[in-house]
Amino acid sequence: MNRTTPVIPAGDIARQKEYCAELRALNARRPAPPRAWVDTYGCQQNEADSELLRGMLAEMGYQIADAEEGADVIVINTCAIREHAEQRVFGNVGALVHGKRRNPSQIICLCGCMAQEPHVAERLKQSYRHVDLVFGPQQLWRFPEFLRRVYLRRGRVFETQPDDGAIAEGLPVRRSGKLKAWVSIMYGCNNFCSYCIVPYTRGRERSREPEIILSEIRELAERGYKDITLLGQNVNSYGKDLEGGWDFPRLLEAAANLPGDFLLRFMTSHPKDATEKLFDVMARCDKVAPVIHLPFQSGSSRVLAAMNRRYTREQYLDKVAALRARIPDVVLTSDVIVGFPGETTAEFEETLSLIEAVRFDALFTFIYSPRKGTPAAELPDPMPKAEKSANFDRLVEAQNRISLEKHQAYIGTVQRCLIDGVGDDPRHSLTARTAGGRLVHLDGDGALIGQYADVRITDCSTWALFGELAQPSKPSPSQGRSPISSKGAPFPCP
Ligand code: 5AD
Ligand code: SF4
Repeated sequence: MNRTTPVIPAGDIARQKEYCAELRALNARRPAPPRAWVDTYGCQQNEADSELLRGMLAEMGYQIADAEEGADVIVINTCAIREHAEQRVFGNVGALVHGKRRNPSQIICLCGCMAQEPHVAERLKQSYRHVDLVFGPQQLWRFPEFLRRVYLRRGRVFETQPDDGAIAEGLPVRRSGKLKAWVSIMYGCNNFCSYCIVPYTRGRERSREPEIILSEIRELAERGYKDITLLGQNVNSYGKDLEGGWDFPRLLEAAANLPGDFLLRFMTSHPKDATEKLFDVMARCDKVAPVIHLPFQSGSSRVLAAMNRRYTREQYLDKVAALRARIPDVVLTSDVIVGFPGETTAEFEETLSLIEAVRFDALFTFIYSPRKGTPAAELPDPMPKAEKSANFDRLVEAQNRISLEKHQAYIGTVQRCLIDGVGDDPRHSLTARTAGGRLVHLDGDGALIGQYADVRITDCSTWALFGELAQPSKPSPSQGRSPISSKGAPFPCP
């Protein structure tokens, strides 16, 4: 397929596989198999990247450890979105120095978005000398080459040059779950929201080929995955660099038409690009979960313009109305930033009024954090911290009330849920998710994990629903039942 963004040549990927084989042979000579631990911070894209890192480590002959103790290789996959996330990484990476003193042959790697920030790379170079390897997200596919270099030469490796990125296919993946899977459909972001570091750390938007994505989803469905999330910084930009008329609604519908018993989700959607065509696909495709994460960031059109979001409050509300006209009980979640530079408390009140108007099911709330190199970090920011915190608390309080009210409306309903894990409370031995992704605690046989079941909701909190099996055990819905109950009658994709 012709495209306007680069793809890593197959020969370059093959060379990485040769490095894997070489390291595997070296590791096989050790008295015991070496262990590697990957620690992940931040978003789902980082979770997906960590699954690739683990896949590559397994190819290199490492056993994948679930804790730091005794690890021969430690990989810290970092997030740069807010100051707080970075401070946690610096604290935890600093603490690794003690383990390295006990085991000087240990290799410590830092990758992800922080590695791509010049001031962070410099600080690591100067003050964190126990860190051996630092590389940015666009270089992830070269991890075997870098690790080999550190392993054989014991020198430090920094691969943090600015990089727009390319598409790398054919990397090994070690998935963390057996029911839920991430599938990246595109990488990077071209939106340059004025507060956000991501366009600087993850490069330009580039889409994977639809055939490759669809065959990955088909294979996951065949292997029994039930819940597949399509990932991209802004999935609605999918296909802009591809020929053949591909866009996100078309990809989503093609994925929903694949055989198998699974639900599709996606994140994240920029509201400016969330179209009625997308909402139509969501409404008519039974395998698309009735849920959307649609970050609004601010309820004030003035602040939205300063954020470079390219939609107004009214346009956002119109999108929500268009969505709800098609899927009245859609689960709607969002992100919001409080205390953007120059935001007044009157403008913050517009954010409060927007959440009262929309009534999101859940909200991810953030206090603005200045990111070096972004335009917003240069803006005057006169509001005192205490006033921002007070506004933030009001927002959280209002949303908690709305979330609780939304959850209360589930009581007495029967929801078709995927039983997805073991609960941590003896009265509720299982956890489950509604089609819209709400967490449900219930009691039942562990053998139900991995199956869909009808659950009667009996109680709730702000954060979760509580329920009981509507029938003691259910056959799998592959025997002719729709996995979604909340959208009403099944409506197969054409
Ligand atoms: N400060 C606070 N929150 C931010 N986000 C992104 N950048 C910043 C920042 N500098 C939030 C946005 C985004 C979410 C992933 O993180 O709400 O949607
Ligand atoms: Fe950041 Fe905006 Fe891109 Fe989201 S769309 S990653 S908030 S720049």
